[in-house]
Amino acid sequence: MNIYSHILVATDGSKYSEPAVCYAMRLAKESNAKLTILHVANVHGYVEVLWHDMKKKYKNEGERVLEEIREHCENSDVKAETLLEEGVPYLKIVEAAKKLHCDLIVMGSHGHSGLEKILLGSVAERVIGISPVPVVIVPPDVGKHLLESKEK
Ligand SMILES: Nc1ncnc2c1ncn2[C@@H]1O[C@H](COP(=O)(O)OP(=O)(O)OP(=O)(O)O)[C@@H](O)[C@H]1O
Ligand SMILES: [Mg+2]
Repeated sequence: MNIYSHILVATDGSKYSEPAVCYAMRLAKESNAKLTILHVANVHGYVEVLWHDMKKKYKNEGERVLEEIREHCENSDVKAETLLEEGVPYLKIVEAAKKLHCDLIVMGSHGHSGLEKILLGSVAERVIGISPVPVVIVPPDVGKHLLESKEK
């Protein structure tokens, strides 16, 4: 029985979200579920003069992150959509899950700040706190062996 029909995986492009992306790809493939890969460009908090440049920089960076994952999906025969949003990451992640009627959110335990947040990063923590659907948190050492690439 496939209990998931649409999985949302959130990535900040850090090495800590890679296992989450691999896990979600594998889960989507096995469950025959749709997969959406979301990156939120965190463009808030910059003073007006810097805002335009920073926004461009973050959006370009986000496009690059998503493009790389798109390629990874193609090489692994996984069908996926990518989505680039801007705003406050945890709010946008939950908003996207609701809007797309996702039944699962997959995330890394940590992100760009790394393991200095010993237990859990704040984006992960906040999504768990307000998500209307189950959230799977994938720890850093869950390997990429979950997926076999066509390139091998
Ligand atoms: N901007 C983002 N867009 C999409 N997903 C994100 C974003 N930021 C974080 N995430 C998701 O949340 C997971 C945990 O990252 P989080 O940001 O909570 O940890 P951190 O960067 O180590 O700590 P903090 O951000 O609290 O300093 C990431 O692996 C990713 O799945
Ligand atoms: Mg972070």
